[in-house]
Amino acid sequence: MSNLPIWNSKTVVDSYRTQYELLGPESAIIQLFKDQWRNWRMLDIGIGSGRTTKHFAPLVKEYIGFDYAEFMVKAAQEAFPNIGEHVTIKVGDARSMPEFETDYFDFVLFSFNGLDDISYEDRIQALKEMKRVGKKGGYVFFSSHNLEYIPNLYKIRHNNNLNYFAYQCYRYLMLLYHNGLPQKFRKMEYAVIKDGAEHFSIKNYYVKPAAMVPANRIGI
Ligand SMILES: C[S@@+](CC[C@H](N)C(=O)[O-])C[C@H]1O[C@@H](n2cnc3c(N)ncnc32)[C@H](O)[C@@H]1O
Repeated sequence: MSNLPIWNSKTVVDSYRTQYELLGPESAIIQLFKDQWRNWRMLDIGIGSGRTTKHFAPLVKEYIGFDYAEFMVKAAQEAFPNIGEHVTIKVGDARSMPEFETDYFDFVLFSFNGLDDISYEDRIQALKEMKRVGKKGGYVFFSSHNLEYIPNLYKIRHNNNLNYFAYQCYRYLMLLYHNGLPQKFRKMEYAVIKDGAEHFSIKNYYVKPAAMVPANRIGI
């Protein structure tokens, strides 16, 4: 499972260059730790074109943001050429971070479901690495697609607009074509799904909340 060529494509990079707003939970996190940021080292994983860089980097003592898509990294570097000497933006891979010391970062972020980009075993490896580079007592935040949402994903929504309804039918047929019937996911703990992201080109990992962090595999 590799979405890397898609993240590196010009169309997708250009579309990310237009998205620099924080999501609700990210704003809440900024507020939650408002008295700590200035003393913290932050690792921001899968930064894309730097949406989170814009908001988090100015707050912290040291900020390292990376992404495995080199053209996304270029876009982030171009967006923030003078953001500060405490900021590093580079290419890197969450699955292997030997360049970072153990117990180093106070706050590790993998935003906007970036962790869902990689296979199950790779995901465990990335979570292990995130735990390793984070300080004991530090924080790791990430978001992930919820497998329990699947019945909603397949719902055909309608209002009084015929074009909207036609698009919903098309979307439903595409979901069936790429993933089969939604019932098949009921008993699964996780699944790889083409949910429509980037015109059905991206494969996303969906997981049930209870299985999201397999603590025994990660060593928590
Ligand atoms: C959905 S995009 C989100 C980008 C950015 N975080 C944002 O919110 O705008 C997911 C990003 O994660 C990156 N990514 C996925 N797997 C990665 C990995 N193993 N290591 C580093 N970056 C990764 C992709 O290249 C992509 O830029």
